[in-house]
Amino acid sequence: MTIMTTPVLEARDVTMRFGGLTAVRSVDFTVNAGEIVGLIGPNGAGKTTFFNCLTGLYIPTEGTVSYKGTVLPPKPHLVTQAGIARTFQNIRLFANMTVLENVLVGRHTRTKEGLWSALLRGPGFKKAEKASEERAMELLEFIGLAAKRDHLARNLPYGEQRKLEIARALASDPGLLLLDEPTAGMNPQETRATEELVFAIRDMGVAVLVIEHDMRFIFNLCDRVAVLVQGEKLVEGTSEVVQADERVIAAYLGEPFEGDPGAAEAAEVAAAEAGAEAQSTTSTKGEAQ
Ligand SMILES: Nc1ncnc2c1ncn2[C@@H]1O[C@H](COP(=O)(O)OP(=O)(O)OP(=O)(O)O)[C@@H](O)[C@H]1O
Ligand SMILES: [Mg+2]
Repeated sequence: MTIMTTPVLEARDVTMRFGGLTAVRSVDFTVNAGEIVGLIGPNGAGKTTFFNCLTGLYIPTEGTVSYKGTVLPPKPHLVTQAGIARTFQNIRLFANMTVLENVLVGRHTRTKEGLWSALLRGPGFKKAEKASEERAMELLEFIGLAAKRDHLARNLPYGEQRKLEIARALASDPGLLLLDEPTAGMNPQETRATEELVFAIRDMGVAVLVIEHDMRFIFNLCDRVAVLVQGEKLVEGTSEVVQADERVIAAYLGEPFEGDPGAAEAAEVAAAEAGAEAQSTTSTKGEAQ
């Protein structure tokens, strides 16, 4: 007997064209409950465009996106309401709001009160405010920013702004979280902490789809990795399978990554060349004297 499970996310045959440029071409993509899935690919491969198609920011030229078996209308607020939350490659926070207020804004899709009511703190909002604030503080504790609740977002260091964006996304109680380069600009400690954070988010029952250029981060974290090259899904599989695929290595030539089977060889060649050069320099000097 096969057990049928409905995927959390199912993109079918998604294509996005901008004039003559096809940024995403016929991509089928699935994320199942409990999964952390990675989306990698060289710069300009179409990763962010694909996220924009999933979240209703772009209306795909072709194809459909379903969340838990229901086709999503391509409208960002309806996608959020359905249960997909995201962060952006270029951080989008309300710079002049506090940390807590930023999370509360993320909460508004789950309260009866609208965004303006939340921002203007009308009478209806006050009732819902306490519960929302409690949830927001829980999330700030979860990501480790509770102590900075009253700081302005713009005064946070970059790594903390990225974390705050994640907290704001989680405030909409998503079933799927999309992260676009969550560790960009982070130091190695912050990156490791983000890895733990993503595992913890998955353990809360939220499936995660993450774009990253940091291969170590991706291969440590993900149950499955898909590789996008020039808008097409080139390879998909476990970290082991994807790391060993020659087409992936070829797509990344010029951007060697740790664990790349070609990297050791390339380093050997470089060392040999450096040695030869040093020798020839010495002998040239010898001749000149
Ligand atoms: N709104 C748009 N209008 C026209 N072209 C676009 C638009 N958005 C993206 N593109 C083009 O689509 C292609 C894919 O871009 P995209 O930003 O999705 O790549 P990416 O894989 O996210 O790259 P990176 O790793 O650098 O973030 C690029 O050639 C880009 O110039
Ligand atoms: Mg991008």
